[in-house]
Amino acid sequence: MALARVAVTAASRSLRGSPSRLRNVCPAWTQRPASMSGALGARAFSAQMSPPSKAVVYEQHGSPDAVTRVVEVPPVLVKENDLCVRMLAAPINPSDINSIEGVYPVRPPVPAIGGREGVGEVYMVGSEVKNFSPGDLVILSPPSFGTWQTFVVKDQSLWHKIDKETPIEYASTITINPLTALRMLEDFRTLESGDSVVQNGATSMVGRCVIQIAKARGIKTVNIMRDRPGSDEAKEQLKGLGADEVFTESQLEVKNVKSLLDGIPEPGLGFNCVGGNAATLVMKFLGAGGIMVTYGGMSKKPITASTSSFIFKDLSLRGFWLQKWTTPEKSPECRKMVDDLLTLVRRGGLKYETELAPFSDFHIALDKSLGKLGSQPKQVLKF
Ligand SMILES: NC(=O)c1ccc[n+]([C@@H]2O[C@H](COP(=O)([O-])OP(=O)(O)OC[C@H]3O[C@@H](n4cnc5c(N)ncnc54)[C@H](OP(=O)(O)O)[C@@H]3O)[C@@H](O)[C@H]2O)c1
Repeated sequence: MALARVAVTAASRSLRGSPSRLRNVCPAWTQRPASMSGALGARAFSAQMSPPSKAVVYEQHGSPDAVTRVVEVPPVLVKENDLCVRMLAAPINPSDINSIEGVYPVRPPVPAIGGREGVGEVYMVGSEVKNFSPGDLVILSPPSFGTWQTFVVKDQSLWHKIDKETPIEYASTITINPLTALRMLEDFRTLESGDSVVQNGATSMVGRCVIQIAKARGIKTVNIMRDRPGSDEAKEQLKGLGADEVFTESQLEVKNVKSLLDGIPEPGLGFNCVGGNAATLVMKFLGAGGIMVTYGGMSKKPITASTSSFIFKDLSLRGFWLQKWTTPEKSPECRKMVDDLLTLVRRGGLKYETELAPFSDFHIALDKSLGKLGSQPKQVLKF
């Protein structure tokens, strides 16, 4: 399958379904070599071009199911330091949804191709590329826009080679959610074995990673999930991953939630990715001087903190955004953490539920990610 340093004839490529605006989503296409300009006409030129790509494109922001469509985009130039990667899998994350909606602070200009993380196989390398070969398994690290397409062309500095034995559903999802869980357990408080943390959104990928990484360090977890069909089964799943306690929100409608802790020490650190009542519950579990870290807002509801939680408990409300770890200077450290997490995955120490969805069923996977079909595992597009 892999094709190295192959010259293709651009004039022979089909531009089916590729309105001129879509050329903007493939910047390399606009940087044509001199041989392509002016007198191109029917004359073929030889340069390294990617194959045409099938991509999820949105030309304006809005509801993802209304503004996204799958189109064929033209081949792009594979420049001397580029890798052309045949994508194998890419997840649909909440931040992808928010980017398409136009509410995520960092997003590509439209028209754009969706997706921010993913795994693929090197298909073609630029003439100056020495450290990658066709067939290598690579991920974008740090995450980078435009992974929901069959071929991605980006500078070699953005790609990270990983062990070929890594299952694609993990390789494609490792750089955002598991890394967030790891950093949140490290960055706010020194946790010792025997300490505890509390979190809502415990069924999320981040939540599941928090449970397992904490467990491996001897840290106990108190977990909150929303009330919904299948909650009993989900609780058992989380306990199977090592959760010490799992409560639905309605179980916590009691005067003193800490009376339910059953020997678990009062948590000093809490994670909130939901907001609203679920955030209030995290704060109720925290002990004096506790820190609640907000990293998501799945319920779209604001956080309300009681006056007494500040005066009598001196709680701190903090925030986490992985974006601050995605600077070029931090890239080596990030890749080391990603490699460590993938080693944990291959040893069976980090598990989470995903559903591989054929790319041809993109809009079904999108509906599942939007919650239109009830609670669903993380949708991972398989190309
Ligand atoms: N700040 C950062 O740098 C950063 C990095 C990574 C992720 N995040 C955020 O972390 C959160 C989880 O991401 P993920 O990819 O791990 O999630 P995920 O695996 O896609 O799972 C979604 C989670 O959200 C819950 N949920 C969905 N709709 C909800 C609603 N209306 N009310 C309450 N809960 C709801 C789901 O609960 P059910 O199981 O009950 O359906 C599930 O736990 C998101 O908010 C994401 O944006 C932030």
